[in-house]
Amino acid sequence: MPRKIAAGNWKMNGTTASLAELFAIAAAHQDPKVDILICPPATLLARITDAGAIALGGQDCHVNTTGAHTGDISAVMLADAGATFCLTGHSERRTDHGEDNATVAAKSLAAHAAGLTAVICIGETLAEREAGETLAVLSAQIAGSVPAEATAQNTVIAYEPVWAIGTGLVPSTDQIAEAHAHIRAELSDKDIPLLYGGSVKASNAAEIFAVPNVDGALVGGASLRAADFSPIITALENA
Ligand code: 13P
Repeated sequence: MPRKIAAGNWKMNGTTASLAELFAIAAAHQDPKVDILICPPATLLARITDAGAIALGGQDCHVNTTGAHTGDISAVMLADAGATFCLTGHSERRTDHGEDNATVAAKSLAAHAAGLTAVICIGETLAEREAGETLAVLSAQIAGSVPAEATAQNTVIAYEPVWAIGTGLVPSTDQIAEAHAHIRAELSDKDIPLLYGGSVKASNAAEIFAVPNVDGALVGGASLRAADFSPIITALENA
């Protein structure tokens, strides 16, 4: 059985005051029945010395370990700062920084080499969905950005339809079920956890977690405050 994971991606949000939210989540879930992951900005990640039961992750890593790459952070540095996970291939990285599947695969391998679990993000745009290309896009993203050596020990897949991110739009449970069944079928290790991401909130979490092959969520906006994220964690514990 894949493990269940409630993951929060803080994106480019959070200053010192936000650490109180992370510690409130840790205090509310001291013995969680699911894995909890938060990916804060690197500025905060490096300052967290005790996150309780919460695992910490980076939001991106460079393909190299060290070098002349101003502004970038390597997977080794994230691990050194206390991360055990790293997001790779988030649609905002693919769009804002032109990351293609080959780059995402290289970053995922860099994460693995540093001992991090790569949370590899895939998902179709609205145009691709409307053109009936969703499953083909997902197949191409898996083939191109998930390394052949990916296992349940070093990899998580997050299905995040681009059109559902930060929009309040959520696919139907049938659409999520179809995508997740397809992703599961494409992976050689069937125990790799599959997370859904895109406008997950406390009000829709239980319904999403009831969908077959959904092992948790990657949450953006609703992970920034304990009052919003904690009920999502509880919904996954009860799923
Ligand atoms: P929202 O939950 O804000 O839609 O963001 C989802 C996401 O991109 C998580 O990585």
